[in-house]
Amino acid sequence: MKKIIALLLVAVFCFACLAACGTEEDTGTSESQAADNSEAEVTGKLAEVKKAGKLVIATSPDFPPFENLEGGEVVGIEIDIMNIICEKLGVELVIEQMNFDAVLPGIQAKKFDVGVSGITITPDREKTTLFSLPYYNAAQVIVVKEGSEIKGKDDLEGKTVSVQTGTTAETGCKEMGLTCQAFEANADAKAALTTDKVDAWVVDNLTAIEMLEEGDGLVILEGEVTTEPYAFAFAKDSETLVTEINKIIVELSKNGEIKKIFNKYGIEP
Ligand code: ARG
Repeated sequence: MKKIIALLLVAVFCFACLAACGTEEDTGTSESQAADNSEAEVTGKLAEVKKAGKLVIATSPDFPPFENLEGGEVVGIEIDIMNIICEKLGVELVIEQMNFDAVLPGIQAKKFDVGVSGITITPDREKTTLFSLPYYNAAQVIVVKEGSEIKGKDDLEGKTVSVQTGTTAETGCKEMGLTCQAFEANADAKAALTTDKVDAWVVDNLTAIEMLEEGDGLVILEGEVTTEPYAFAFAKDSETLVTEINKIIVELSKNGEIKKIFNKYGIEP
């Protein structure tokens, strides 16, 4: 039953997204639905966060354009979305930085309130983690050196691939039976390819585009390896907080705010 409700929610959300992307007329018409509900009795994790007056997020800021360090400050699409969410919840945003593989364990151990790290919803993660509605559908891509004999996924057999530790790229490559070199930092996974330690680097598509630079000698192969719906991650007992954040996500999709944030980073979602 829960699954059906979740599927329905996703369907409604996707429809809302399409509607918002298709027409600009909706933009800015309705005021916050979440705000309308603020009179209702607040319980559980939502009450806890409101009482504390802060929302503590766990992030690995090596994942542009979603979260990245700029002059020591964490910036990016997800940080912008979180700032709006915090504003609507009436709490302060507190950012805790860590390696990606520490994010989900930290959420499960309740050290932080929300995992904000371009986190892909997977059935395996859903066993231990509660996810918000997805707000973007990404994909994984293969990055190789220019002129590489690897032209697609099928050519990876018998090759060595770099990935970031704890990511869906790592699980995916292992499932494919590839030899994986996992790095805590995304930049090191890239460097392994530029320095010929591996034959390919598997990483999420928008991050690959952002991290490739003139003169790298690297190319992104056409064809997406997986589909990666991104969402925010919570401990299992955070239902009330997730429900409230979902309302805000739907609102920001409908009124075009999420689209606007992507556009700010030069991306057409
Ligand atoms: N989407 C992938 C996953 O969930 C990679 C996320 C990496 N995020 C980061 N902030 N480095 O496993």
